[in-house]
Amino acid sequence: MATNHSTQQPSTINPKALEGKKAVVTGGTIGMGQAVVRALTDRGAEVVYTGRNEHRLTEAQAALGTQLAHPVRSDATDMAAIAALRDQVADILGGIDYLFVNQGIAEFQTLEEVTEDSWDRIFEVNAKGSFFTVQRLAPLVSEGGSIVFTTVSNDQIFPGLSAYSGAKEAVAAFAKVLAAELLPRNIRVNAIAPGFILTPTMGVADLTDEQRSEFVEQGNAATPMGRGGTVEEVAAAALYLAVEATFTTGLELPVDGGFGQGIGG
Ligand SMILES: NC(=O)c1ccc[n+]([C@@H]2O[C@H](COP(=O)([O-])OP(=O)(O)OC[C@H]3O[C@@H](n4cnc5c(N)ncnc54)[C@H](OP(=O)(O)O)[C@@H]3O)[C@@H](O)[C@H]2O)c1
Repeated sequence: MATNHSTQQPSTINPKALEGKKAVVTGGTIGMGQAVVRALTDRGAEVVYTGRNEHRLTEAQAALGTQLAHPVRSDATDMAAIAALRDQVADILGGIDYLFVNQGIAEFQTLEEVTEDSWDRIFEVNAKGSFFTVQRLAPLVSEGGSIVFTTVSNDQIFPGLSAYSGAKEAVAAFAKVLAAELLPRNIRVNAIAPGFILTPTMGVADLTDEQRSEFVEQGNAATPMGRGGTVEEVAAAALYLAVEATFTTGLELPVDGGFGQGIGG
């Protein structure tokens, strides 16, 4: 049933479309975060991006190959690191036009397997880290700027992802409530909700290559479009919300090949 649709498009990128714009992407070293960084720098924006792993930061910087991208090692679960990130962003960029809060991690655990430690781990990176990143960085976001969270296409149930799904639902709530709170500053707040996306990790901690292949097959079968999404497709949706959707705020936009839309597979 999987149809391999081509996602190749002729390049229409204007390398100066976002010249002079400043952006921050948390969790920008691999997968969709890196694709967002690339989409921004390809259009001339200057970007600070984060991750915890020094090796991944170095690899990302080599892959991006542009001085418009600034890697900063920062752990979103560490309040002091979030405060330091605010200062680093102020030093490097001055202000922020677009803030993408993308870091996250899933762990497959059944009801019986979830422990207090695993619960805290999941909520700290996905929910608490996302909230306090915005709390600390929002003062740097300019009037007319915008914030985009990464949640997950949650309208279909995933057994084994209760803690992760709950943490991402919290992030979806932040997108709505903070959209209201930041309205007076003319800052829009939205979220992208990816389905199965073909990233190195598929968003799941410690997947073996074999487990990843199985997960990709499950995704192909469960997604009405019959395939996983590409990181470029997610980045396009994230940039649309951040840059072009100037009359849209408080929205969680599915980027899921129809997965969460009840349209059948
Ligand atoms: N892939 C999917 O199918 C899928 C589907 C739905 C939603 N999502 C969500 O989409 C986002 C991106 O997923 P992905 O699959 O592209 O990549 P990922 O493997 O989930 O990694 C995302 C990025 O987050 C960083 N990160 C993880 N923990 C961090 C922390 N505590 N502080 C700072 N950075 C941290 C990672 O770098 P380091 O490890 O170096 O820190 C990496 O750069 C995540 O929020 C994920 O939950 C993914």
